Amino acid sequence: MTTDFPLSRTTHPTPGAERAAILADPGFGRYFTDHMATATWTPASGWHDHKIGPLEPFSMHPSTAVLHYAQEIFEGMKAYRHADGSVWLFRPDANARRFARSAARLALPQLPEEDFLTSVAELVRADEVWVPTPTDEESLYLRPFMFASEAFLGVRPAARATYCVIASPAGPYFPSGVTGVTLWISSEYTRAAKGGTGTAKCGGNYAASLAAQIEAQEHGCDQVMYLDSAGENTLEESGTMNVCLITADGRLVTPALGTILEGVTRDTVLSLAADFGLTPEERSISLGELRSGAADGSITEVFAAGTAAVITPMVGFKGEGYAFTVGDGTPGKHTMALRDHVLDIQYGRAEDKHGWMRRVL
Ligand code: COI
Repeated sequence: MTTDFPLSRTTHPTPGAERAAILADPGFGRYFTDHMATATWTPASGWHDHKIGPLEPFSMHPSTAVLHYAQEIFEGMKAYRHADGSVWLFRPDANARRFARSAARLALPQLPEEDFLTSVAELVRADEVWVPTPTDEESLYLRPFMFASEAFLGVRPAARATYCVIASPAGPYFPSGVTGVTLWISSEYTRAAKGGTGTAKCGGNYAASLAAQIEAQEHGCDQVMYLDSAGENTLEESGTMNVCLITADGRLVTPALGTILEGVTRDTVLSLAADFGLTPEERSISLGELRSGAADGSITEVFAAGTAAVITPMVGFKGEGYAFTVGDGTPGKHTMALRDHVLDIQYGRAEDKHGWMRRVL
């Protein structure tokens, strides 16, 4: 059964001129729209109090569980404005399913997938004026999340959870995006172990990535590339994105699922590979294979896949005592063709053969 998220509009919307200035240069994650969706869960009442209301701060008791034990999950998705003015989501059902899997792993209550989809669509409708008309890669980034909102210090699943969706007009995640990013291969930090939370989209995974991110920046890199935690020297993923390789003999290879995030963009490129004459392969990739393949030309391209990053070329790698580039250090042709095609589907410029787009306005 679907629940409505009734709208009560803010009486203090952002003035039009201020909004226009933000939309002209949104950056990533800096500005927020006028409304938010919320719902509350308790064992006695289940999910209740679904609504879209003015964007406002949460008021929390200092003992609120999430502040202590990080019982929290989130999603990242985007609303795209097409040339005819209509507004669409890309594979929101995949985000809804992943949100449910993350909730199970973090012992948070299950939000019905239909409620996830309704809340996101209704928030976009409420804040339609915030959906950018793209000149490049602009969209309305949507951030559904859920956290333990019970005020209690015992370590057990919280008996109160808050679900919320906020929205933020966004440009490219990496200012250097299309020219390519460089990666620090950390031998100090890992991201996830078998049985851990690697496949869940939970805040704790990202908190734990920040020290490694500092290490990457200290080495002049944009992001971290994690290796597995069992010491097998296999590639896992980058701080905010999955990794894919293109080989000279026409394969698109990405690490198999297990401890990595089940990325929607990762799944999208695997589904599209054959249209580009590439054979998709999900398997383990060793660091040695990446290094020797980049050196002898059998790996021709490497790219990152993620909602925020879309498809971003990975052009250079550094680790303790070594550095190498992929190809000539510029974005590869398959990477750019896949990137253009994914963006063309998302912005309605290419046929949506897989039925991935869902219209909201
Ligand atoms: C996304 O791609 O939406 C992500 O979740 C990455 C984010 C942490 C910036």
